[in-house]
Amino acid sequence: MSFFSLLSNPSSQGVRDLVNCLVLGSGGREHALCDALAHASSCGKLFALPGSDAIAETTGTFCPNIDDTIDQRRVLDFCKRENIGLVVVGPEQPIAEGIADLLMQHEIPTLAPGAKAARIETSKAWAKDIFAQAHIATPRAQVTDSHKEAQIILARWKELPVVLKADGLAQGKGVVVATTRRQAEKAIEQAMVEKRFGKAGATLLFEEYVEGEELSYFALCDGEDNVRFFGVARDYKRALDGDKGENTGGMGAFALAPPLGEHGSMEELAVRESIVLPLLRRLGKKAEPFRGILFLGLIATRSGVQVLEANARLGDPEAQTLLPLLEGDLVETFLAAATGNLARQEARHLESQQTQRTFNFTEAVHSVTVVAAAKGYPAKPQTGSPVENLDRIEASPDLSLFHAGTRLQDGGKDANGKMRFHAQGGRVFSVNARGSSFAEARTLAYKTLQAIDWKEGFYRKDIACDAHTSAFVKTCHAVLKFS
Ligand code: GLY
Repeated sequence: MSFFSLLSNPSSQGVRDLVNCLVLGSGGREHALCDALAHASSCGKLFALPGSDAIAETTGTFCPNIDDTIDQRRVLDFCKRENIGLVVVGPEQPIAEGIADLLMQHEIPTLAPGAKAARIETSKAWAKDIFAQAHIATPRAQVTDSHKEAQIILARWKELPVVLKADGLAQGKGVVVATTRRQAEKAIEQAMVEKRFGKAGATLLFEEYVEGEELSYFALCDGEDNVRFFGVARDYKRALDGDKGENTGGMGAFALAPPLGEHGSMEELAVRESIVLPLLRRLGKKAEPFRGILFLGLIATRSGVQVLEANARLGDPEAQTLLPLLEGDLVETFLAAATGNLARQEARHLESQQTQRTFNFTEAVHSVTVVAAAKGYPAKPQTGSPVENLDRIEASPDLSLFHAGTRLQDGGKDANGKMRFHAQGGRVFSVNARGSSFAEARTLAYKTLQAIDWKEGFYRKDIACDAHTSAFVKTCHAVLKFS
């Protein structure tokens, strides 16, 4: 991956100010972010809170508080102490809790929306209202916060499957596609009686099931009506091959650069004009301008594209799939988005480099990510087992290993200098491979996974298996049909 290539001659642009950066989070997405930022030519010191052993070891990021949770006041103090000029927030929880509001009040540029705009992710019921007000196509839904009413809605619901969604944040586990009434009753019971998702499941959505191919679409937004296309990927949400098993945070993904055409192409323009911009305008009116990464869950149906959900961050494992496809100085681009300067930055680039793009996609690269999880994930992952050979993967420019839930044990290295990682979490690591075809990228990803010795883990064997067919291309064409 070459993040340096876009800035062909930095000296011709004068001396750059280096920006100290902080990434919040500790998972695979944050590992990919640290990897990308570490290669940006404007990056000064790079920190992660809490970060992880692997992020520190493999990207040179400083992770001084690995065992801590993300406490807002401490993050603020840390930013002041380390003269942080850009904060990139990975996970949804700190965004929901208003970390960007606090940091922006103190004039610390932060790539994440405020809590009010993040409601687009933190309340699915509220998001449905916004979609309706913005005239964005979305599956029909009914909302209730009463167990009794939920039972009545189900009794009257005509078609199966029915999709049940917890209103709030449930770590990707709050969605059930119920193919029988019994399954739907169980999902209602778990959310509203057993309170499996706490407050997040106190309100439930019953949503019409629509068929089609799902896509994760990303746009960089600067809160000033400027939007940059940031890629599209396909995520595999179910735990097991053949889309069986429980919903997870994501077990793998694939992407093609540039998948929906380059920035400004007809395809991307259609999504931007018909969905992204109306949504941002409505959000600005009903809440506050959205600044950060907008992540839309789209579904390409026979009758056009609909929005399933909107999120306020990068996806995981989509980040591990898309970030290795990007070239350019991401610090500069993220900073422009965080400070409302995307348009100005593009104009500056156009003047100095005859190109409007401050970052670009590598050319026609196929990217495949496979996630390895601890057995028992997502319900009860077994933690603590050693994962051998993680540091022995053959280095290749087409390969990246991103840790999501590992710890270095017993001082980290054995007598031979080998790093000893143990599993500590549900999704433990992911392998991303790039190639000139999906088949090539898949082969490299799976060959690498086979070389890693982890008996207590599992991964899906069919990630991107369907990518070589025209399904993905068809989906992109379906996006074209959107009007
Ligand atoms: N992979 C889906 C998500 O990050 O929400």
